[in-house]
Amino acid sequence: MRLYRLPKHEGFDDLTLMEGDIPTPGRGQVLVRIRAASLNFRDLSVANGRYVMGTLAPNLVPLSDGAGEVVETGPDVTRVKPGDRVAGIFMQGWLGGEIEPSYRDTALGGAIDGVLAEYVVFDQQGLVHIPAHLSYAQAATLPCAAVTAWNALTGLHPILPGQTVLVLGTGGVSIFALQFAVAAGARVIATSSSDAKLQRARAFGAADGINYTQTPEWQAEVRRLTDGRGVDHVVEVGGPGTLPRSIAAARLGGVVSMIGVLTRGQIDPLSILAGGVIVRGVFVGSRAMFEAMNRAIALHRIEPVIDRIFPLEAAAQAYRALKSAQHVGKIVISLE
Ligand SMILES: NC(=O)c1ccc[n+]([C@@H]2O[C@H](COP(=O)([O-])OP(=O)(O)OC[C@H]3O[C@@H](n4cnc5c(N)ncnc54)[C@H](OP(=O)(O)O)[C@@H]3O)[C@@H](O)[C@H]2O)c1
Repeated sequence: MRLYRLPKHEGFDDLTLMEGDIPTPGRGQVLVRIRAASLNFRDLSVANGRYVMGTLAPNLVPLSDGAGEVVETGPDVTRVKPGDRVAGIFMQGWLGGEIEPSYRDTALGGAIDGVLAEYVVFDQQGLVHIPAHLSYAQAATLPCAAVTAWNALTGLHPILPGQTVLVLGTGGVSIFALQFAVAAGARVIATSSSDAKLQRARAFGAADGINYTQTPEWQAEVRRLTDGRGVDHVVEVGGPGTLPRSIAAARLGGVVSMIGVLTRGQIDPLSILAGGVIVRGVFVGSRAMFEAMNRAIALHRIEPVIDRIFPLEAAAQAYRALKSAQHVGKIVISLE
């Protein structure tokens, strides 16, 4: 079988395609034929060794997000059977409840080998069934970005119909948040560096779009669009450079889910107090969240937004495409 490894963590040009033996599932384990994998911003920092949210295994098989079918099960496997369509969960150890520090050491494509391989063995607990209407490519976009967006919108103060959600940019996490918020009956305001991307966001259901390059004081525009009230939820992927504006865009008592660090800057803690906002760090989510999200995706027939699909041989080009940030939604690698 073919698989990639990152021997040096000096950037994605080190990605090495190699041949390996198909592994055998042991007790409680499941062999999955991976059909598609997707990229997250995280995978760029994993590739260059700068990932800070957990340890990195040496000579790593990269990527956390993959979907495929069960081809073989070891003894005592009861959760899945051959032929089942499944995806791996981001932190193999976080099945439900609150996050625990040890779960970070179970993150695929980081602390442990990931899914950029034609065959991967998982513990049976580390898999979920995927919604029937999704292709493998679509399902491969779910484990990190979608679960993170779901946790942001439902994990603390679950989103309600009629609320307003602000999503920053049009990358993987933000587009999923947009789709979940629309399905929940909420109004979405999206920001982007590009008018063309805002057009796409509107097509996915965003009520309003703000070009943050042309409108650097976009938080004032968000307040104007909400009659001065501010939004109920902010899906904050920008980090320190955007957080002060996100806090200013939130309503009194609103939730700012801090997810990403795409920018640098300074934040005045008093603005949190003055704004009465809840700033909450979000780190992907549990298997229970993934399963709840899949029920919503199936019910609303939500289609993940895929920007481009690259063949396995062009994995480095897929990473390059992610880095160039021209995409809307997700970038996928096919292992068909
Ligand atoms: N905490 C977690 O569990 C978790 C999980 C997933 C991702 N993340 C983090 O969340 C961030 C986004 O991840 P992703 O996979 O969705 O990335 P992605 O698909 O690469 O999307 C990045 C997008 O962010 C937007 N962006 C960049 N700078 C911005 C700014 N100053 N203001 C507003 N938007 C800006 C851009 O959208 P436009 O081109 O439209 O401007 C860009 O395309 C990353 O930092 C990632 O590490 C964290």
